Amino acid sequence: MHDPGTYALIQLMPTALRPACWALWASASVLDDLADQRDVAPADRAARVEAWTQALQHDLAIGTSTDPVRHALVDTALRWRLDLSSLQGAMTTTRDDVGSRHFADWTQWRAWCNEEIVPWVDQVWHLFEQAGAPMTLRLDRRKDYEQFVDGTQLTDILTDLSEDLAQEDLLLPQEALDAFPGAEEDLRRGRWSPATAALIAELTALARQWMTRPAMTKGMHPGAANVLDTAACLLRAQLDAVDAAGPTLLKRTPRLSVVSRTRIFAPARLRAAMAWSLTPLTVPGSRRPAAAAHIPRPSTDNAALRPPPPHSEGARPPQIPADQMPAHVAVIMDGNGRWAQQRGLPRPEGHHAGTAAVHEIVCGALEIGLRHLTVYAFSTENWKRDTDEITTILEAIRRDLDEGPLRDLDVRQRWLGHPDKLPQELVQALQRAERRTRNRTGLTLTMCINYGGRDEITRTAAALAQAARAGEIDPRLIGEEDFARHLPHPDMPDVDLLWRTGKEQRTSNFLPWHATYAELHFTPGYWPDVDRRDLWQAITEYSRRQRRHGAAPLTTNRSTVQASR
Ligand code: IPE
Ligand code: IPE
Ligand code: MG
Repeated sequence: MHDPGTYALIQLMPTALRPACWALWASASVLDDLADQRDVAPADRAARVEAWTQALQHDLAIGTSTDPVRHALVDTALRWRLDLSSLQGAMTTTRDDVGSRHFADWTQWRAWCNEEIVPWVDQVWHLFEQAGAPMTLRLDRRKDYEQFVDGTQLTDILTDLSEDLAQEDLLLPQEALDAFPGAEEDLRRGRWSPATAALIAELTALARQWMTRPAMTKGMHPGAANVLDTAACLLRAQLDAVDAAGPTLLKRTPRLSVVSRTRIFAPARLRAAMAWSLTPLTVPGSRRPAAAAHIPRPSTDNAALRPPPPHSEGARPPQIPADQMPAHVAVIMDGNGRWAQQRGLPRPEGHHAGTAAVHEIVCGALEIGLRHLTVYAFSTENWKRDTDEITTILEAIRRDLDEGPLRDLDVRQRWLGHPDKLPQELVQALQRAERRTRNRTGLTLTMCINYGGRDEITRTAAALAQAARAGEIDPRLIGEEDFARHLPHPDMPDVDLLWRTGKEQRTSNFLPWHATYAELHFTPGYWPDVDRRDLWQAITEYSRRQRRHGAAPLTTNRSTVQASR
């Protein structure tokens, strides 16, 4: 982070955006330094990070600061209308990092990376968005982006190895260290050995592979793509320096020479000048009032969340035993058009009424304690409809994301589907909602928009093929779990209950991978007429079903056992 490389990368941004980037970079660096001051006891360091974060909260409220770095950040947040609340998680991680950091495996290591870095990068994305040059990341490239972030972090760790070891820190997952017996002890004792050499070679190769993601910047604004491509180039050169360092890696930090940096940045600066000269940017004029910007503390953030409004007639959810609750309910919200026609209204009215029904069902899901709700809002086949109807549906979703009542509920919103053909404003609103709600823990609401099951399977197969070609996976050994890992949301559980309203009894290309063993539930009413009690009824019926997943029925088993006795 203190590397002149970061400074040079910011120089590739449009001039108007640089002060804001410097403010973010400086703040992240100050927090990092506070957490890393090894001459200070860990508890005091944690207290300093906490105090800085709290002071920021106060400074944001009054719109100024006596501390120059916080002043720059406050000014940036107010000027660019940044919502700094997503940084809270990163600041908490930094505070907790003062203790000893230990990662059992790559999964834990990645989660830490994600917590610590991604929220800061998200702020830069938001800046671009506010400036009218959105760096819209295609959702099918999200995995590339996450690996890229992992790659930058791993490169940093390898570069700073000597400094970290001097402070008895080793920020590598145990899983990676254990693969080279003896390497950990040698590293901790500052001994360069065949095991350490092999470990470092393996890790630089891994970081290089994670950062070589040519598809990530496809379709992106050339100026933004230039920043990311140059960062990758710089970090690969840094990895070359780590490889070339050999035993000295344990004694000092390998740095790139000015010549190597110039070789990378001179052409990149030309590309940047060219790319940004073609894009008119909107620079905010005045700052908005101080009180409008805030960085809620975790408790305040939760306090800002409100419980779902009660049912209009005061209905309460049934008590379902935990082992009979579905983990994941998916809904095909059908019948909006027929609902409108039945009332002599134009079809768009049905879609507006359908939006209110989504709120109702989300409230019901929160009240009954459902963990995952996935709703089908627009299919890849729905493009066959009239342009006017398509516009109404998509516009209703966009407006609801920015202004709707779900904002303040404990709902983590996610989007499943493909950005192609969708309006840019909708894609941005979806990504904004995802960023804003990423730390919420109540209900995960996945909205399927421009979603098609076959499309999802085809793209997943393509991602696997790409991984196989890159040598990350052996095609002969591909199993179901590998496939599942390459899906757009690998953590989405299987669908337990699939509910379709509106009389039809078909699945219309919805979640073919996840719903192979779902219990099906079809109801005749049209979607705008549903009530949270319909969801509770569906879950109650589900709780009485016997799921076998291919095994013999439980009762038969028992009688067989008894008969054989
Ligand atoms: C479902 O309602 C909503 C979407 C497909 C977007 P429909 O619009 O399909 O309503 P019907 O099936 O025509 O009544
Ligand atoms: C399925 O409904 C898609 C959504 C609810 C978004 P459709 O109304 O489009 O499905 P079909 O055409 O009747 O199968
Ligand atoms: Mg329909």
